[in-house]
Amino acid sequence: MAAADKPPIADRPEGRPLHVAVVMDGNGRWAKQRSLPRPLGHRAGVEALRRTVSAAPKLGIGWLTVFGFSTENWSRPAAEVAELMALPKRYFETDLDRLNREGVRVRVIGRREGLSRELVRLIDDAQARTANNTAFHLDIAFNYGGQADIAEAARRFAAEVAAGRRKPEDLDEAMFAGLLATAGSPPPDLIVRPSGEQRLSNFLLWEAAYAELVFQDVLWPDYGEEHLRAALTEFAARDRRYGAIVADDVLAAG
Ligand code: IPE
Ligand code: MG
Repeated sequence: MAAADKPPIADRPEGRPLHVAVVMDGNGRWAKQRSLPRPLGHRAGVEALRRTVSAAPKLGIGWLTVFGFSTENWSRPAAEVAELMALPKRYFETDLDRLNREGVRVRVIGRREGLSRELVRLIDDAQARTANNTAFHLDIAFNYGGQADIAEAARRFAAEVAAGRRKPEDLDEAMFAGLLATAGSPPPDLIVRPSGEQRLSNFLLWEAAYAELVFQDVLWPDYGEEHLRAALTEFAARDRRYGAIVADDVLAAG
């Protein structure tokens, strides 16, 4: 592969990921273990998000994408959906001012359809207030599904073709990536899933092409800096080749 064709992934000298994505999972089990109602698990999950967002920049991470609500989560009982819908407000009320002061750009990726008008306003406001921040990037996937995002991008490109503004052959991987909700972010180097489940569950399907996956046996509400550090240690031990072979083997291949 020519150097220019390499995926735009920053191979950082210390073997640290630039972009980490997290499937925040295990809130329900955490609550159940404590005989608490599930909403309390979700609220404790917000605390874990706070700890993780504050640990990430200290560990050299520049982008953090977290999965907060998937397009499939609508199938949960209405009361639980209502609790999950209330989480962004809960989080922004306590944290947005500080995040903004610290130079964090907040972006919410996912469909706006289905969200209340109040929530959409809250999201728009959070994004607008932090839009020019560059110290750290927090992307919150909310009402997000990887397949839905890819389908939506394809639909938008098809509409451009139908309108005569684009030709089918204009489309390549880079242009397609620019049509996704994650446009502008580097692809995740590391995707972490706590709670013991070993699935992507429709998270960042396109973007995950070369991500290292780390599954951790901790429930999300217990997550914090030590778990993020452990994930980074595992990441640093991985050998990322992007489909190529290592230099020694190039020599051996003659
Ligand atoms: C993560 O915790 C929150 C969301 C998926 C919205 P869960 O609610 O999935 O917790 P478990 O998997 O039931 O433990
Ligand atoms: Mg779950």
